[in-house]
Amino acid sequence: MTSLADLLQKGRAGTDAFIARLPKAELHLHIEGSLEPEMMIAKAKKHGIQLPYANVEALRAAYNFSNLQQFLDLYYAGADVLRDKDDFYDLTRAYLQRAKADHVVHCEIFFDPQTHTARGIDLEVVVTGIVEALHDGEAELGITWRLIPNFLRHLSEQDAIDTLAELEPYMEHFHGFGLDSSEVGNPPSKFARVFAEIRSRGLPVVAHAGEEGPPEYIIEALDILHVARIDHGIRAIEDPALTSRLARGQIPLTVCPLSNVKLCAVPSLAAHPLKKLLDAGCLVTINSDDPAYFGGYVGENYRAIAAALDLSNQDLKMLAAMSFRGSWLHETQKARHLATIDQL
Ligand code: ADE
Ligand code: ZN
Repeated sequence: MTSLADLLQKGRAGTDAFIARLPKAELHLHIEGSLEPEMMIAKAKKHGIQLPYANVEALRAAYNFSNLQQFLDLYYAGADVLRDKDDFYDLTRAYLQRAKADHVVHCEIFFDPQTHTARGIDLEVVVTGIVEALHDGEAELGITWRLIPNFLRHLSEQDAIDTLAELEPYMEHFHGFGLDSSEVGNPPSKFARVFAEIRSRGLPVVAHAGEEGPPEYIIEALDILHVARIDHGIRAIEDPALTSRLARGQIPLTVCPLSNVKLCAVPSLAAHPLKKLLDAGCLVTINSDDPAYFGGYVGENYRAIAAALDLSNQDLKMLAAMSFRGSWLHETQKARHLATIDQL
């Protein structure tokens, strides 16, 4: 006789197979957050850097966070092994290979220029390493891309303005700008001038908001920074008027379920507000944020949240479709991906 457990297992396997077949766009991925422990240790060895961890297991064991700041401290320290162009190339290439395995066909990638300039790394090294890997990935793996520098919000607005000036020679490679790092105490309004300057050049902007910070930060990101998307945005669920506004405007929320659990922004995946946001009509996408630190790439995020919230294949199709609708692809490319999803 088939047990209930067997049936559930079969159901899960079917859902996982369906997720594997869905073409996806990933819109919230920090390339520095895809630095796997194996690569961190190899790069440390290459550059003669002494890490405070003996091996991969010790490093992974340290990935236990109670909040965003604890993670950020480790993430910025880890990024110190990225020193030359090959390092940035290898990092990006490795991410694209993982993305390909998850049937990601389009990615919009963040990097943190100030994390590298603060260590004396030339932006040419950072940008050319990432961009060459993205071009090669597009040619060889068929993954289209956009690149988005993020300003670190724990630093001053002047630092962001200076960084924008340093990025000037590479602007042709960027499709928009974003805002990340320690959220609480660093509201979007702190960056009003630099974001206005970027928008005046016709580039779209995004901002992390409502990850740990209150719904008011999401409102500031909309009203003061005029963002095209909100990164995370999960705390919008606490403010019904804001949730309705996001739904009405179809402002994409780039949600990262495993990240939210790892950083204790939600108590568990089962308590994650993703389905409530979907049911309220919001445009929600599933992303991995910093997959090397949070236990999974985009496919794992889909599988885990589908299991925890009992998402149907129809829900999953809608989420994959929203990842393209929320992307910065051209309308014709969006339509092509949406048609493929429609046929599944
Ligand atoms: N930088 C990298 N990951 C981040 C996150 N989840 N929130 C804010 N800043 C980040
Ligand atoms: Zn993020």
